[in-house]
Amino acid sequence: MKNDKIRIGIIGTGNIAQSAHIPAYLKQNDAEIVAVCDLKLDRAREVALKYDIKHAVDSIEELVAIDDIDAVSVCTWNNAHAQAAIAAANAGKHVLCEKPMAMNVAEAEAMKEAAEKNNIIFMMGFTNRFRAESQVIKVMAESDKFGDIYFAKTGWLRRRGTPLGWFTDLSKSGGGPVIDIGVHAIDLTWYFMGKPRPISVTACTYDKIGNYQTKGVSRWEALDTDSLVFDTEDSASGFIRFENGASMSFEVSWAINGRDTGVFSHIFGTKAGASLNPFTIYGEVEGYLMDSSPVVEPQDPFVNEIRHFLDCIKTGKEPLASASDGVIIQKILNGIYDSAKLGKEVIID
Ligand SMILES: NC(=O)c1ccc[n+]([C@@H]2O[C@H](COP(=O)([O-])OP(=O)(O)OC[C@H]3O[C@@H](n4cnc5c(N)ncnc54)[C@H](O)[C@@H]3O)[C@@H](O)[C@H]2O)c1
Repeated sequence: MKNDKIRIGIIGTGNIAQSAHIPAYLKQNDAEIVAVCDLKLDRAREVALKYDIKHAVDSIEELVAIDDIDAVSVCTWNNAHAQAAIAAANAGKHVLCEKPMAMNVAEAEAMKEAAEKNNIIFMMGFTNRFRAESQVIKVMAESDKFGDIYFAKTGWLRRRGTPLGWFTDLSKSGGGPVIDIGVHAIDLTWYFMGKPRPISVTACTYDKIGNYQTKGVSRWEALDTDSLVFDTEDSASGFIRFENGASMSFEVSWAINGRDTGVFSHIFGTKAGASLNPFTIYGEVEGYLMDSSPVVEPQDPFVNEIRHFLDCIKTGKEPLASASDGVIIQKILNGIYDSAKLGKEVIID
């Protein structure tokens, strides 16, 4: 650290880096972005120029070798998360990694190992945990307001919301909506449930709609939208069992002929339940069923996430979304794909 500022390197200067990570760091008084890296050097240089950032490079190895960096945000395509996080950890830099953690469980475990070996802070960008409403539900769960949470239902259905660019290219993404948006829904709900150990998963994936020409719909766009590859699923559903007897059902789609839901999570406990989207607590008061809606100002979850990352670096405490959490979620995601391929329930160890 220099002048009490945590010096940040951004790896991958595409859409999420420019729309979320960089603006969130710029809002912090104790952080300074000192380097950016992108396969496309022109893009890195353009971002460096715009935000007055000292270094712009085109290789991960070059970025992590820069001395005056304390921490990095990994914002590349999914297939470079492991390479970037491991290189940064081995160079002694703290890591905030975009979701999903990796392409597969072996990569995720190698990332966790590198973080532990080098004693750095490793945090997963599970952004939905940092929404104001999520924090209310988590606090209530921790103070036992829901009792035993034994069942949950989660998902994110988009009617026509397939991202444009590398997302549909399995070699760069590792999967479709399961790994892209299902990761948010499943992680968030698992977090609310108190992170029980998953033991098995059964799932189906579909690629029924694929590329479409529907007009008047908006989509997330990677900065390069010239990819013509579409070899991922476009929807999935399934069921996860946990060691404590609890279970979670989920449904996700990039494209489906049904209603758009946004990310939703319903948890069902022995004392009360809660839903995100719409945000409601389902309880009982004086013998009557009572629904209530906590009032919270919306907050930018990326700002909260990055604030938490910086605080963990300063205090040395383990991030709320740890490498261990990332590995467990990766096991669920890959379990979903394995189950769909095999056509039966698979064990998660
Ligand atoms: N938390 C969220 O809600 C959220 C939302 C959108 C995207 N994301 C995640 O953010 C990441 C990036 O998505 P995006 O939409 O910004 O994509 P993008 O394509 O716009 O940006 C990725 C950038 O990384 C660069 N890149 C790829 N491989 C690289 C490598 N090996 N070295 C250096 N640069 C490399 C690309 O050139 C590109 O500029 C993905 O992992 C995605 O899942 C998270």
